[in-house]
Amino acid sequence: LDCFTHDPGFVATASCKSKITYIDGDKGILLYRGYPIEQLAEKCEFTEVAYLLMHGELPNENQLLKFNLEVSDKAIIHESLRKFFDGFHYDAHPMAMLVGVVGSLSAFYHSELNNKDPAQRFISATRMIGKMPTIAAASYRHSVGRPFVYPRMDLGYCENFMNMMFSRSSQNYIDQDHYIDQDFVKALNLLFILHADHEQNASTSTVRLAGSTGANPYACVAAGIAALWGPAHGGANEAVLNMLAEIGTAENVPKYIAKAKDPNDPFRLMGFGHRVYKNFDPRATIIRKTCYEVLKKTQTDDPLFELALAVEEHALKDEYFIEKKLYPNVDFYSGVIYKALNIPVDMFTVMFAIARTAGWVSHWLEMMEDPNKLISRPRQLYVGPAQRDYIPINTR
Ligand code: CMC
Repeated sequence: LDCFTHDPGFVATASCKSKITYIDGDKGILLYRGYPIEQLAEKCEFTEVAYLLMHGELPNENQLLKFNLEVSDKAIIHESLRKFFDGFHYDAHPMAMLVGVVGSLSAFYHSELNNKDPAQRFISATRMIGKMPTIAAASYRHSVGRPFVYPRMDLGYCENFMNMMFSRSSQNYIDQDHYIDQDFVKALNLLFILHADHEQNASTSTVRLAGSTGANPYACVAAGIAALWGPAHGGANEAVLNMLAEIGTAENVPKYIAKAKDPNDPFRLMGFGHRVYKNFDPRATIIRKTCYEVLKKTQTDDPLFELALAVEEHALKDEYFIEKKLYPNVDFYSGVIYKALNIPVDMFTVMFAIARTAGWVSHWLEMMEDPNKLISRPRQLYVGPAQRDYIPINTR
């Protein structure tokens, strides 16, 4: 019975071999295909990084141009798919719409479902990257009762998303009063790059697990979105903002730090701690700096940012957090930036999903190319009753 190792959190078990992302949790190092996250965040556009994750090398100018064209060409969604949104209740959570609508893409691309052709697999992966912002923006427009905005081929990935989110008109142009600020586009580009991949996190492992059975890529990514939604994973950015709103003012911070330390209180400081990073999260360091820049630009004296700084300061000085190596993670500041970019709180995890799609499809592609691919079928330690005989219902 107990011939298996009990490692439920995969703490000491590598579930696969991968060439995509490297993390050294003790040193706070994160590399995509060997390139430090700091360099990619500073110099790249998101689609360049998506290409890198998918193909293994940075694109040259022509390759990037072609990839950008393919991504924007695939951004449009089928009119029938667009109508799916009408079926959702007006206050449906955008993640609920995302998981449903992305899964339903399987119903539109029958010829791609057998996954046999490598070239076709890249088309499916590119399609997913292209469509995700359109589906995400459509779920937001549905929730606020505004008409759908079609994607535009002439805008970059992040700018196009902002336009689909915030364009006042279904005529699909950005008017003088509602033009998209290029600094906002830059901030969004950076956040997307930082969230693009993170090796075998829960949602990526879910995509791989589903993919290992031969399931189609759309179903696999929908499974990844479902796993991402939880507050211990991608849902943390939304949970951080809700937590800061609950804390309210800096005077309440010590009370909440005490709650987080109390073993009898389930409350955790959201945006703190990481399964792999036990020193600092390099993504949090980059985001913290961007947070300052975006808030300076918007000239918002956002009390939430001040409050976030107060929470960080208290926690970093506290024995409990020091001993357990709990530092701010990527999600601690991303919500504050998204809020400054006017992204509603319930869209935060959706933003994460748009970016992480690049990682999900890259892992799916890598797994599909592996000739030694095995169906992921973990074993368990059975702790239930020993064999026993059936008891007729009238004698139970
Ligand atoms: N606040 C208070 N205590 C904490 C926290 C926290 N945020 N995180 C961990 N701990 C404590 C935990 O109670 C446990 O204490 P004890 O050993 O006394 O039982 C100890 O630290 C270890 O916790 P764990 O849950 O076993 O550690 P883990 O490595 O499995 O958890 C984590 C990692 C991210 C799930 C956890 O730190 C957490 O729940 N953080 C808050 C949620 C969050 O910010 N999630 C975003 C993660 S980064 C983005 C992403 O990858 O999606």
